Amino acid sequence: MSALRCAAPSRIICWRAGPVIVYVPGVSNRAQSAGFQARSYARCRAFVAGALLLGDLCSAVAAPAPDYTRDVKPILEKRCASCHGRLKQKAHLRLDASALIHKGGKNGPIIVTGKSGDSPLIRRVSSTDESERMPADGQPLSAEQISLLAAWIDAGAPYPEDENVPASPAEHWAFQTVRRPAVPPVKNGAWCRNPIDRFVQLYSGGGHIEDTWDGHNDCVTNHKLHAGETDKPIAALMADLKRTGLWEETLLVWGGEFGRTPTSEGLGKPGRDHDWHGFSMWLAGAGVKGGQAIGATDEFGFKATEDPVHVSDLHATMLHLMGLDHRKLTFFHSGLDQRLTGVVERNVVTKALA
Ligand code: HEC
Repeated sequence: MSALRCAAPSRIICWRAGPVIVYVPGVSNRAQSAGFQARSYARCRAFVAGALLLGDLCSAVAAPAPDYTRDVKPILEKRCASCHGRLKQKAHLRLDASALIHKGGKNGPIIVTGKSGDSPLIRRVSSTDESERMPADGQPLSAEQISLLAAWIDAGAPYPEDENVPASPAEHWAFQTVRRPAVPPVKNGAWCRNPIDRFVQLYSGGGHIEDTWDGHNDCVTNHKLHAGETDKPIAALMADLKRTGLWEETLLVWGGEFGRTPTSEGLGKPGRDHDWHGFSMWLAGAGVKGGQAIGATDEFGFKATEDPVHVSDLHATMLHLMGLDHRKLTFFHSGLDQRLTGVVERNVVTKALA
């Protein structure tokens, strides 16, 4: 058998030899103990060398159960985790943490503790049928690796309780559904039957920090709440405008006063700060060419890098869609003809026009 198998029981013999300590008067206990341990170690090493030479002495000592973290996990990580790990979970099976190995896959448990012979995992890694054998790619596991896995299962497949189970990216907050608070009761039932011509401004928020979209402290909770409060109402408003024929004459502009940074200045906070370098606004309705995204930010979502639109360009576009020329729309104030779009030349975003 391999040197590994011999070395493991030999180590046990060493530890048995270690604790024989004799105290000699006049020398400190610690020094004596260290001295004796060093000597018994040396003796033990000689014994191990002899045992390795004799060979059959090794097999006389029962091999200890493989250690999960040291012996089992590295095999599974190297040969199985690419298909049965955090990112890919073939047959709904994860083999990158012991609690998940115990849980099993699509077809139930894959190990029967104490009985490697009955364990699908061992059957799959030792199968001679290539279409059945795992890993599904590369060389089969070696006989030693298989017997290590089998010995671990036979010993009850123990593992440290505090083993970290890596979270699946599917559990990331960005993929969680929004929270939908209950719709408040309507005081006047007749209200919803009143035709509403137009809203000039609809505003979500109205409080401070977490009561608005100002997610400095916790963007996750904040945005899940406010998105949940507004997504269906926005969809309903749009559906209503289309239903009533107002879509063709109403311009919808949706956005905030700025975006949120991809990082937070507060340490360890899931909050996000103000970002005026790059953020999204959407336009819909009258005169707008829908179904497209104009421009892009860098990969972190920090700064507009492609077709950036200045806020005054957006204003010029909104005015244009309402039939007003932003260069001519002025008001006289403090001796100047003031423009909403400022004194710098601004452009209508023609790509946004239908
Ligand atoms: C290249 C991808 C790949 C690798 C690497 C891989 N597997 Fe698989 N595994 C699969 C696929 C695909 C299935 C589902 C089809 C099947 O059962 O053959 C599967 C199924 C299984 C199942 C059956 C689960 C069930 O519930 O039916 C077991 C057990 C298993 N693999 C063990 C392993 C072990 C152990 C390793 C590493 C030694 C490993 N696999 C490596 C792709 C892979």
